[in-house]
Amino acid sequence: MSKPKSNNAKTISVALMLCLVCSVLVSAAAVGLKPAQVENARLDRNKNILVAAGMYDAESDTASDVAERFKDFDVEIVDLNKGSYVDDAALKAAGIPDRNAYDASLATKNKALSEDLGNNDPAGIGRKPKYAKVYVKKDDAGKPEIVVLPIQGYGLWGTIYGFLTLESDMNTIKGISFYEHKETPGLGARIEEPDWRAKWSGIHSYDENGNVATGVTKAGTPKENWVDGISGATLTGRGVSNMIQFWLGEQGYKPYLDTLRKESGQTIDNAADTQASQSKPAAQPKTELAATLPVANGKEA
Ligand SMILES: Cc1cc2nc3c(=O)[nH]c(=O)nc-3n(C[C@H](O)[C@H](O)[C@H](O)COP(=O)(O)O)c2cc1C
Repeated sequence: MSKPKSNNAKTISVALMLCLVCSVLVSAAAVGLKPAQVENARLDRNKNILVAAGMYDAESDTASDVAERFKDFDVEIVDLNKGSYVDDAALKAAGIPDRNAYDASLATKNKALSEDLGNNDPAGIGRKPKYAKVYVKKDDAGKPEIVVLPIQGYGLWGTIYGFLTLESDMNTIKGISFYEHKETPGLGARIEEPDWRAKWSGIHSYDENGNVATGVTKAGTPKENWVDGISGATLTGRGVSNMIQFWLGEQGYKPYLDTLRKESGQTIDNAADTQASQSKPAAQPKTELAATLPVANGKEA
């Protein structure tokens, strides 16, 4: 009579031991693999920055090519409302000790580092970070040649994350990439396809009055300077349209892009006459951006 009891006890203790060993192994693997996961996420982000900048060849580029080419970029933190760079001292004062580790998406979960967008939230992101991380490639004279801007917004099934690159006029779109989303393969997920992304190249972000002048149309309904949507993915296209318009707008990067344009003595494409007629002073006062550029300039691996 006692034999079966002892067998049960043995079975249970073996099962418990097995559970314990497995959970230790799984935890060890999770902890051990974490640095590799972080490194892969960083590489993937950098690759997508290069994709948006038209500096990545999917056929031939290796991880070390990505690392090498990414060195061409300065990594800057922008105060979105002021449109100026933030130096390390101001970042520390804001509770950001390490600019390289700053993650604007995570910042939206921190009330001190983000603003509730309330009803004024066309991109469906809920909260806007006060600071954004941007990637600037400069020419030999030290002037911004391209800027790569992180963008995010709600698609059909979830938040779409990507990068948008502008040319030195801070108006013409050079490229776009999307690196994380929940859209359906074959439908909304086609926003990742090179052929569709290529349609953005050469599009003007703003009209002569400085208003955002682009977006995504419903497939087959062409509109000048807008990108034709993907058939069967109207809702994803609308999400992309909203996110582009939000991030290029006053709440997004527009103040920063205006500052960069002023810094290089440029106006929005075709806007010289309009701006002159608004009798703006010929010599603009030096902006905060100019004062912070040399100090804030950061490199990130
Ligand atoms: C299973 C399933 C997945 C879908 N995924 C998407 C999607 O990722 N993006 C999207 O815009 N529409 C998606 N749709 C279609 C939408 O429900 C909607 O019909 C479509 O956006 C309308 O676009 P159209 O006017 O271009 O046909 C999906 C539909 C189904 C049934």
